[in-house]
Amino acid sequence: MVPPLRYEDGALLVLDQRLLPAEVSWLRCESAAQVAEAIRTLAVRGAPAIGLAAAHGLALGMREPSADLEAVAALLLATRPTAVNLRWALERGRAAWRAARDDGRAGADTLLELARQLERDQLDADRRLSELGAACLPGAARVLTHCNTGPLATGGYGTAVGVLRAAHAGGRLRQAWVSETRPLLQGARLTAWELAHEGIPFRVVTDASAGALMARGAVDAVVVGADRVARNGDVANKIGTYPLAVLARRHELPFYVAAPVSTLDPGTASGDQIPIEERDAGEVLELFGRRVAPEGAGAYNAAFDVTPAELVSAVFTEAGVLEPPYERSIAGAVGG
Ligand code: MRU
Repeated sequence: MVPPLRYEDGALLVLDQRLLPAEVSWLRCESAAQVAEAIRTLAVRGAPAIGLAAAHGLALGMREPSADLEAVAALLLATRPTAVNLRWALERGRAAWRAARDDGRAGADTLLELARQLERDQLDADRRLSELGAACLPGAARVLTHCNTGPLATGGYGTAVGVLRAAHAGGRLRQAWVSETRPLLQGARLTAWELAHEGIPFRVVTDASAGALMARGAVDAVVVGADRVARNGDVANKIGTYPLAVLARRHELPFYVAAPVSTLDPGTASGDQIPIEERDAGEVLELFGRRVAPEGAGAYNAAFDVTPAELVSAVFTEAGVLEPPYERSIAGAVGG
């Protein structure tokens, strides 16, 4: 699998996911501002990968002798508001910087080492939560997933896609249904690319197909990722996730969320307090740079929605399979 980030010769190379699957092209980032731009414009996306990119961005920014830690962190934090992994990684960076300064070590080297450590940790977390999640699926499962949560989105093994990979490896997956994920098609472009690479059987469906598939009995479970899980278990994830959870409840199917502990946010009480990113209307009104809506049409482009905890069957994390009441299980996972 092609990793979303590579550190080489003093620069962060970002796989430009906007061009996939047609083109494999790398952006060379030598400054925090360039990393911030790569995150903002979705060259790198997916909550954990955004966090890893930010950790590298902080390390690059703090190489400048006159750089101010808070200013660099603020620049990176301002790029995307919903994925809490971004804030989490920057907080880890702040702590590492201060500890290095107290010990008389070079702060920028410490930040680079932290970024690399976070990459290794992400791979371990992904593998663990994927194994735990795959064990919860029925045999010969037909699993519907949304957006992209594979290695491109995490820098590791994947979360929801990781569950599919582990289930496939264990002979438990009959087929994945991949929703295309309008407006930017992370499912059709990125998840399909990753699953094809892994030889995992899948079919891409339009987002609107989920209800018909479930009504036909063609889905056994839904597994999605998360950008942030609030203290009460409400889940922010790619727009279109909430309707999948409603449909799953209607059809008495399990609705699972796969996310590392770094995506749990006990500091946010409930989903209505999660900031939801609103992106440019052009992403909805155009397809690949070509206008599809008539001139003068407006659009509302919320990038994420919130699924209430009551619709979530379980959250697969590396700290265990979290079940309701989430207030208690999330506190245990974060504390542990
Ligand atoms: O806008 P994106 O592509 O960054 O949105 C990605 C998602 O919503 C993912 O489901 C989420 O970040 C989890 S990635 C493991």
